[in-house]
Amino acid sequence: MRKLGVGVIGLGSAGLLHAESYNAIRDKARVVALCDKDKGCVESNALIYGSDAITSYHDVLRRKDIDIIDICLPHHLHAKAAIEAAEAGKHVLVEKPIATTLKDADDMINAAKKAGVKLMVAENHAFIPAHMLAKEMVDKGRLGRVFLAKAYEIVGDVPVEHSWKTSSAALGTLLDMGVHRFFVLRWIMGDVKSVFAFAEKLACELETDNDDTAVIALKFKNGALGEVDLTCCAISEPTNRLELYGTKGTIIEDHMWEPPLMYCSQQPDFETEGWVKPEVEHAPFPGYYEISFRNEVEHFVDCVIHDKQPKVSGEDGRAALQIALLAYKSVKTGKVVTVNK
Ligand SMILES: NC(=O)c1ccc[n+]([C@@H]2O[C@H](COP(=O)([O-])OP(=O)(O)OC[C@H]3O[C@@H](n4cnc5c(N)ncnc54)[C@H](O)[C@@H]3O)[C@@H](O)[C@H]2O)c1
Repeated sequence: MRKLGVGVIGLGSAGLLHAESYNAIRDKARVVALCDKDKGCVESNALIYGSDAITSYHDVLRRKDIDIIDICLPHHLHAKAAIEAAEAGKHVLVEKPIATTLKDADDMINAAKKAGVKLMVAENHAFIPAHMLAKEMVDKGRLGRVFLAKAYEIVGDVPVEHSWKTSSAALGTLLDMGVHRFFVLRWIMGDVKSVFAFAEKLACELETDNDDTAVIALKFKNGALGEVDLTCCAISEPTNRLELYGTKGTIIEDHMWEPPLMYCSQQPDFETEGWVKPEVEHAPFPGYYEISFRNEVEHFVDCVIHDKQPKVSGEDGRAALQIALLAYKSVKTGKVVTVNK
């Protein structure tokens, strides 16, 4: 079978991890072109992957040997590149957040539908084995009815001064890190009904108005409550944590733990004596990035090869973006904001 040709656009921290991930599934796909506007960066990386080095992504979209365009550009550049890629007949894997406005997200979804190509949001949190186990356990009712879901992303990853992340287009940490956690909570708990949020610049000393810290309260349509805490300014190792409290059991998952997840349950036929720590594929930072990115690109490649629906649709990415944008509306108005479909 012919290997799929991939073009990765944007070779920063995400793009390089994507390129490396395709390299791990060389039997199915090959990165034939790398693209970045930074000539030195693209040329040195192209040597590593044996790919062509291209500085304008339009030249990548024109190539007949490319099936998948993998977009790892700054947030506000996702939509234009994704729409042009779909119009060029390429399948699109686009980094989170899908876009920075709902209109852009809708245009991306519609462009992919019109062109008959696949669009997946690269939400690596859907491909972290511990998250997958947590979702499976909730779906199987091991926790009973989950009434409280909490997610934290606490990292020391302050943006570079005068970079796109400090520009007003990037909005801030609530968008950048929030969409991961909103995706995961919605994936496990279902749709969100209302949002209340604080988001402020509290610790970062850069010249930017973007928030670095946020606390978001959620009410799900099923009646459960949720909370998301975020900062990019912590003096600590990254803390990515998920806590699910059900009427019959609890799951606590933390990316820094080995193994990363523990649960207890009083569900008949599934009762535990205290905490159980199952074995799942995992490695602390940065290992869980490598594992989840590899799983993610392999899944997308398999979807293209076997014509399957990707696990994280454009609509899923749009829903996570919508929660983030409504949270910003709540920050501005000081009010609880309701999600309209
Ligand atoms: N899933 C994750 O965990 C994860 C992790 C990191 C980043 N991301 C996402 O990936 C995206 C990129 O983030 P990053 O941290 O890699 O950013 P980055 O600043 O490190 O890299 C962006 C790259 O895009 C290049 N670029 C900018 N405009 C370009 C253009 N018009 N044509 C070609 N190249 C261009 C830049 O030169 C740079 O190398 C963001 O949307 C971010 O949210 C996701």
